[in-house]
Amino acid sequence: MKCLPEISVAPMMDWTDRHCRYFHRLISPHALLYTEMVTTGALLHGDAERFLRFDVAEHPVALQLGGSDPADLARCAEMGQAQGYDEINLNCGCPSDRVQNGRFGACLMSEASHVASCISSMVEAVSIPVSVKCRIGIDDLDDFAFLDKFVSLVAEAGCRKFVIHARKAWLSGLSPKQNREVPPLDYERVAAIKERYPQLEIILNGGINLTSQISENIDEFDGFMIGREAYSNPYFLHEIERNILKNTGQLLSRDEVVLAMIPYARAQREHYGTPVKSITRHILGLYHGELGAKAWKRVLSTLPYEADAAEHVILSALDAKNEAAARQKAA
Ligand SMILES: Cc1cc2nc3c(=O)[nH]c(=O)nc-3n(C[C@H](O)[C@H](O)[C@H](O)COP(=O)(O)O)c2cc1C
Repeated sequence: MKCLPEISVAPMMDWTDRHCRYFHRLISPHALLYTEMVTTGALLHGDAERFLRFDVAEHPVALQLGGSDPADLARCAEMGQAQGYDEINLNCGCPSDRVQNGRFGACLMSEASHVASCISSMVEAVSIPVSVKCRIGIDDLDDFAFLDKFVSLVAEAGCRKFVIHARKAWLSGLSPKQNREVPPLDYERVAAIKERYPQLEIILNGGINLTSQISENIDEFDGFMIGREAYSNPYFLHEIERNILKNTGQLLSRDEVVLAMIPYARAQREHYGTPVKSITRHILGLYHGELGAKAWKRVLSTLPYEADAAEHVILSALDAKNEAAARQKAA
């Protein structure tokens, strides 16, 4: 029998910070959670402790690195391992200008042998898995042979796991947002890579917002990475736990997740001075499609931004949601 697929939440800059990951973990005990991309420059010359900080509850958690210097990447991979991360991932999929100027992200796909050098340095430096997240192509380098060569060289350097965003990236002319929407999805090309390299772990990413998409493709891939849907509709992760990962155990209801966020927000405020708005901004989508969702969002879009707001605003939002839901039910 085939093993259950790996389910992960995508690295998303400015979104999947540690507060967001803590929240996702409350909903999904099993999903592998990725950090936002952290550049080697930020880790080596900035406040590394702050960039690498995470809560033990987040495990399993993977650190995504952005960079292209093999020695720097090896050093940062070591730092990630020492901090307790479960996997180190190299970003070869981000098309932003800023990232291209630093010669990393998606533009690295045109330098497969250089990526291979980066991977071998990283693999040598750590004992935890090192993975790559890439696109199916960039610009006019956009056919199976190109992706095949990239995967082959990088795998030879020691990478056993590829997360493939199933659309190519245009390196100029499109914004990062457009690059997540305009180039068409091509799951078949990713499936063809899995067929050619059955020994590699191939994770499909891009456009997944229904569990049926996962069920339909479950035999083709080793796992599925969810990005935007996990953020805008986080309880989708609950549905995945139940329907895909066949978790029949106790899972938290939406309201229980909310109640668990309150002591978390209090602890973050007390230990780090974290304003509650830095936490509540990630939980706006929790009641997506549910009665009272509007009231929930409305309260969380105002109260946390008032001076001296603290974690009790979460309870106020829950009360407002419940009152609105009761009114809607009665109507
Ligand atoms: C706001 C935002 C930030 C992102 N930041 C990163 C990032 O730091 N590293 C990365 O590899 N991909 C990043 N991505 C791309 C996602 O990881 C993912 O590949 C993409 O959204 C496609 O998956 P989806 O269709 O499930 O959203 C980002 C996406 C979004 C929406």
